[in-house]
Amino acid sequence: MQQDDKAAKAWSGRFNEPLDRLAQRFNASVDFDKRLAAFDIEGSLAHARMLARVGILPAADLADIERGMGQIAKEVHDGTFPWTIEREDVHLNIEARLTDLVGDAGKRLHTARSRNDQVATDIRLWLRSEIDALTGVLKTLRGRLLDSAEADASTLMPGFTHLQVAQPVTFGHHLMAYYEMFTRDAARLADCRKRVNRLPLGASALAGTSYPIDRESVAKELGFDGVCENSLDAVSDRDFAVEFLAAAALMQAHVSRFAEELILWSNPRFGFVELADRFCTGSSIMPQKKNPDVPELMRGKTGRVYGSLFAMLTIIKGQPLAYNKDNQEDKEPLFDTADTLRDVLTLLAELLGGLKARPDRMMAALAEGHATATDLADYLVRKGLPFRDAHEVVARAVREAVKLGKELPALPLATLKSFSPLVGDDVFAVLTPEGSVASRSHIGGTAPSAVKAAIARARKAL
Ligand code: ARG
Repeated sequence: MQQDDKAAKAWSGRFNEPLDRLAQRFNASVDFDKRLAAFDIEGSLAHARMLARVGILPAADLADIERGMGQIAKEVHDGTFPWTIEREDVHLNIEARLTDLVGDAGKRLHTARSRNDQVATDIRLWLRSEIDALTGVLKTLRGRLLDSAEADASTLMPGFTHLQVAQPVTFGHHLMAYYEMFTRDAARLADCRKRVNRLPLGASALAGTSYPIDRESVAKELGFDGVCENSLDAVSDRDFAVEFLAAAALMQAHVSRFAEELILWSNPRFGFVELADRFCTGSSIMPQKKNPDVPELMRGKTGRVYGSLFAMLTIIKGQPLAYNKDNQEDKEPLFDTADTLRDVLTLLAELLGGLKARPDRMMAALAEGHATATDLADYLVRKGLPFRDAHEVVARAVREAVKLGKELPALPLATLKSFSPLVGDDVFAVLTPEGSVASRSHIGGTAPSAVKAAIARARKAL
């Protein structure tokens, strides 16, 4: 092993031969974990300041470390930092560079610390900032949903069960269903953040440290709510990562459902909405095509996000306490998921901004499928018929309508009366989609008044 290479390896002293080439590449994580550099520097500075405060590190060394880290941060930012897989990961790259720059002070930085508590700290700092960024993007998306729902609070469309026309709803009400989903997603992120926001530093390799460290002050400086209570758990716990990925998977599920509806609705057979051209692509062979690639990819990205959740669950399964290198595998799924979600949620908010509803097409669909059949049954119940009997009466009326090739409201009064003498000439008012939705004005109902009230409540909460 060359002297330079040996110096690069913080742990090479015990070994008689250099690391196998492939093993070196296999073992190294710097290609992807260099993304943690800013957090690694932030954590190291907080650690060094604490060491100086409690008298473990001379003030002059702290000054050197701060100066060196300032230079390193600049190099990382400018893209001139000399990353090398000889130095394995982000932590050793930065520490070795610090020593190149400031000498012995750099070698003192790792006192009372291990890469095990260091990496756990870095990944928590990184994830916390990603959670905050995602929360911001989610908030924008939720705001857009409220704007769109408000604009279409009275726009009638068929509501579906089993993808068959079921009952009239308003488009605004439909959009507000997604608002609810994304609001729960935001709450899940906030909850997960509480457990992410704990400081592992001080656990050292696994057993804590013999130095008189002050963990609380490091936690405070780094904005953590407190310290991880058990050193073994601190270096090996990745369930905060599973929680984040699970929250992300649910978010993706919601995105995917919405994307699926946009794909369906923008299909000319439905024609309920028009997607802005800037989110669609054409075909290289069929000149007439306008394909919903962006929502399709949003739906497709669900695969990688679910995959990351399963990867992380599998990574932690069966690991003995405490730290194992398996945990290095936490990063790529986390990075990929955070990046994916950020793009997907941002694009979905943009897509909504450029979405045009087609009320005429929604109405046309609503006119096929006897969507107000339940309203007729409810009408008969109000006139005294038990619901089960009313259901039967209306079912027979629908059968007759189907036979005649007509919609329920198009049947003559006499025909309707023939199914039940309770039918009066006030029946047609309940058979209109406007009447149907207006009657569902309770909290959570689809009446325009209820939807507007829900939007007002949401605006206050947002
Ligand atoms: N790159 C490593 C990781 O991501 C850092 C910790 C290495 N610790 C060790 N004992 N080899 O987990």
